[in-house]
Amino acid sequence: MSSGDGALLKVVSVRDFVTRKGAGEKLVLTTAYDALFGRLVDEAGVDAILVGDSLGNVIAGHSSTLPVTLDDMIYHAMAVRRGVTRAMLIVDLPFLTYQVSAEQALENCGRVMRETGAQAVKMEGGGDDVLRAIRAVVGVGVPVMGHLGFTPQSVHAIGGFRVQGRSTADAERIVAQARKLEEAGVFALVLELLPSSLAAEVTSAVSVPTIGIGAGAACDGQVLVLHDLLGLNDRFTPKFLKRYASMADEVRSAVSDYRDDVRAGRYPDAEHSF
Ligand code: KIV
Repeated sequence: MSSGDGALLKVVSVRDFVTRKGAGEKLVLTTAYDALFGRLVDEAGVDAILVGDSLGNVIAGHSSTLPVTLDDMIYHAMAVRRGVTRAMLIVDLPFLTYQVSAEQALENCGRVMRETGAQAVKMEGGGDDVLRAIRAVVGVGVPVMGHLGFTPQSVHAIGGFRVQGRSTADAERIVAQARKLEEAGVFALVLELLPSSLAAEVTSAVSVPTIGIGAGAACDGQVLVLHDLLGLNDRFTPKFLKRYASMADEVRSAVSDYRDDVRAGRYPDAEHSF
C-alpha cells in the first residue's frame, strides 16, 4: 500500500500480533465506526481498529448490541475502510450471524470480507457453536479474533454488564474456553471485564495475544471504545475506563457558543462571508 509520496506503508497483520506477544510489546486497539475517526486513530498509530457491534449502543442508541444487523456492520466497516491505510481492520460479526451453522458463519463472514476489505472478523463466546464457526472461517483462510469474559451479545443470559469469572468454576471454564479457542485457530482473544489475576492466567495459558478491556494490565494489549476514551460518551462510567479527553464538554460548549453567536448576530461576520 502506498502512502501517496511513493513510500510503502506497512499494514499491520496477524503475524505482527503474534510477534508482538513474543517480544512483550503491548498491542493497542480502539474501535471506530466511520471514515473520519478511522483515519484519525490510524494516524495516531493504533495497531488495529475494531468496527465493534458496540456501534449499536454508541451510534444507534440501543440499550444492547442485539439489534445490530450484518448490513449495519458492513455499512460502518466500509466507511472505516475508506479512512484507514495502515492499522489492521477487524469487524465484529453481530448476534446470531455465525452461531447457527458453519455454512451461516462462512456466508456472513464472506460478505464482510468481500464487501468491507477487513482483514479479520471477531466472534463472541467459547461454546460449541462458536468453536464450529471459528474452525470453518479459519479453515477458509480468514483470521478470527475471539472474545471471552463479558460477551455483550449474551447480556441477558449474563444478567447485565458485570465482571465475569469471579467464582472458581467460572474462572476454570474461561481458561478452558480460551484454550479451545486457541485450538480452533483464533489469532487473538479479547478478554472483557475479568479480574486482573484471571486475565493474567489466561494470558499465560494461550500463545495468542490477549487484548483486555476491563481485564487489567497483564493482557498483551488493550482495546477501548473510542467514544468512551475521548469522553464523548459521558454517560458511560465503568471503573476500568480512563478518559483521555472531555469531548462531550467540548461539543456542548462549542455548539452553545455557535448558538449564542447566531442569536446575537455575531456569526456570520465579514470574515466568514463572501
Ligand atoms: O463491540 C465492541 O466494541 C467490542 C469491544 C468492546 C471489544 O467488542
